[in-house]
Amino acid sequence: MAAPVITLDGPGGAGKGTIAKLVARHLGWHLLDSGALYRLTALASLKAGIDLSNEAQVADIAAGLDVEFKVTPELDIQVLLGGEEVSQQLRTEETGAAASLIAALPSVRGALLDRQRLFQQPPGLVADGRDMGTVVFPQAPLKIFLTASLEERAQRRYNQLKEQGVSASIQSLLRELAERDERDANRKVAPLRPAEDAIMLDSTELSIDEVFNQVITLAASRIGV
Ligand code: DC
Repeated sequence: MAAPVITLDGPGGAGKGTIAKLVARHLGWHLLDSGALYRLTALASLKAGIDLSNEAQVADIAAGLDVEFKVTPELDIQVLLGGEEVSQQLRTEETGAAASLIAALPSVRGALLDRQRLFQQPPGLVADGRDMGTVVFPQAPLKIFLTASLEERAQRRYNQLKEQGVSASIQSLLRELAERDERDANRKVAPLRPAEDAIMLDSTELSIDEVFNQVITLAASRIGV
């Protein structure tokens, strides 16, 4: 039997990354940060000097990504692209915006599909993204669509960046998130939308612990873990 998958989809800044990491660690399951693959493809394309609208060339980069995910003793994930540590570059708003652009290209999504499915290994997988429940793992026994208001998501991104010592303005974060939402939700392939059988979870008024507990309770009742 295929290893069970919990999919966590939703817009940027809803807390998917944090929750996916906590749930995966709690269950001892694998973790797929699919956004990182789109960000890596964008970053590798920029480094190679490729025009981000050149679908064939960006898809080639996606298919040939030389990536390694290393877990540090502090349980942080280090990302190596062609041997170069790129974890910081990956998280910038610039890389996020470039990722959102190339994520709209069908051949790029196709090139990343198998790579994502390879993460489905025993004892289970927590998959974080935009189309985990609709396209990549449609058979997943538990699908969650995690949202939060635009203002709350911008505030969280702001706090996160500030913690990392990166300067940002709430106004520009609001604008960038809104643009990204619009592009992710309106693209023709695999647009951001909840799977029909997804459970909607609005985290605007919830703490990380509260969201985590709801997901763990759902996993226990749906999957028996
Ligand atoms: O979750 P994130 O911010 O790291 O994602 C970066 C971009 O990648 C996001 O704007 C949309 C795209 N993405 C996607 O299209 N499909 C996914 N499964 C994950 C991310």
